[in-house]
Amino acid sequence: MNVFITGSTGFLAGELAVLLSKRPQIRRLYCLVRANDEQKAWSRLQQVFQFHGDAFDTTKVIPVLGDLADSSLAEKLYRLKDLGEVDTVIHAAADTSFAPSSTENVERINIGGTQQILTWTQSLPNLETFVYVGTASICGTNLTHCNILEDQSPSTSAAHVVRYCYTKMVGEMSVTHAIPREKLLVVRPSIIMGDTRDWTPRSYVILWALAAVNTIRLIPSNPQAHLDIIPVDYTAEAIVELLFAKRNWTTYHISAGKQSSSTLEAILRAADDSADGRPPFKYVRHELLQQMKKWPKKLLPQSELLNPEYARYLDYWNTTFNGNGNLRMLVTAMGPYFRFMDLNQTFDNSRLLADTSIGTPPPAHEYVKKTTRHLNKIDLTAGALDP
Ligand SMILES: NC(=O)c1ccc[n+]([C@@H]2O[C@H](COP(=O)([O-])OP(=O)(O)OC[C@H]3O[C@@H](n4cnc5c(N)ncnc54)[C@H](OP(=O)(O)O)[C@@H]3O)[C@@H](O)[C@H]2O)c1
Repeated sequence: MNVFITGSTGFLAGELAVLLSKRPQIRRLYCLVRANDEQKAWSRLQQVFQFHGDAFDTTKVIPVLGDLADSSLAEKLYRLKDLGEVDTVIHAAADTSFAPSSTENVERINIGGTQQILTWTQSLPNLETFVYVGTASICGTNLTHCNILEDQSPSTSAAHVVRYCYTKMVGEMSVTHAIPREKLLVVRPSIIMGDTRDWTPRSYVILWALAAVNTIRLIPSNPQAHLDIIPVDYTAEAIVELLFAKRNWTTYHISAGKQSSSTLEAILRAADDSADGRPPFKYVRHELLQQMKKWPKKLLPQSELLNPEYARYLDYWNTTFNGNGNLRMLVTAMGPYFRFMDLNQTFDNSRLLADTSIGTPPPAHEYVKKTTRHLNKIDLTAGALDP
């Protein structure tokens, strides 16, 4: 098998690249890497393998310089004759930013970049499988408080919490349109957070949000809402299993499902490190979020937040944030995460369980303890600037 993968310098596809490189069925693994020159591309790829001490076999794993934002990427890939042997394409790269300021780039990468990969893929003489790494979140905000099935998405009438979800939906629709059904595998992970292995995760994405609520302590969300969270090692293994499985469907959720989802309260109880004197978590109405955003600017002479029950939190914020703008930035960046939490969505995983032997993932409230000791390494400000 000769595989071409995008996104291997990232959180999920980094794990995927390492797993694939260990499979004897894989002859070559071409990895699209953003870099200024060949040497930097090799070095970035080497870091992916070195991160957890995996062997980097340079006869098997080969970087391909390229940028999904480049409107001539398809043409450039086409000119690389070695890539003509590729029979499996795994498109996992995306711009995953929730920041409104990133919207243009998110559209360019997730829609335009996917189109570039598709255009090039269609020129491959030996294509057997195209894997698109989508997201279960393309279901949008209309389906709430339920266990969602694969066939309930995509829907062009779905409303989305952030533009990223919309672009992933459009990307998936383009792929479905361009690739024949028998060659297509669409995987839709739910929320990927942390790693079940007792080591530093490749990325603090989503864990940032956990660190943020751990710091804010007042949470405008429903503690009983179910969160469908999966660890990155499980997600990568599930994708590799599906790649080699006899598949009965084209599209699969990779998710915790009803069985292994967690409530927000259970996750925060497991992640809590309030021994340092922070106030306990307090769950409040979602509407209080707006007041929490305004409070740091002292714009709330008549706020509900000034009620005595919140005094402890305001004192704590005063001490912790010392009047700087970080609280406002954190609370604002957390806005979409609080909205996602309140959707109370889980994603049905019966297809994955039926067609592979992977089983269900451990619930987040069980494995998250392995990662909580890393929470203090997370730069909350950097995360808030690009949530
Ligand atoms: N994390 C989640 O909770 C989650 C949940 C469901 C689905 N997903 C999907 O899983 C996939 C991987 O997500 P992730 O969390 O691993 O994201 P990530 O850590 O941000 O990785 C994104 C990858 O895409 C690459 N990329 C971004 N822009 C690019 C460009 N212009 N040209 C070439 N490569 C580019 C990045 O390269 P650089 O290293 O050069 O930036 C990086 O390798 C995405 O498709 C995402 O939509 C993620």
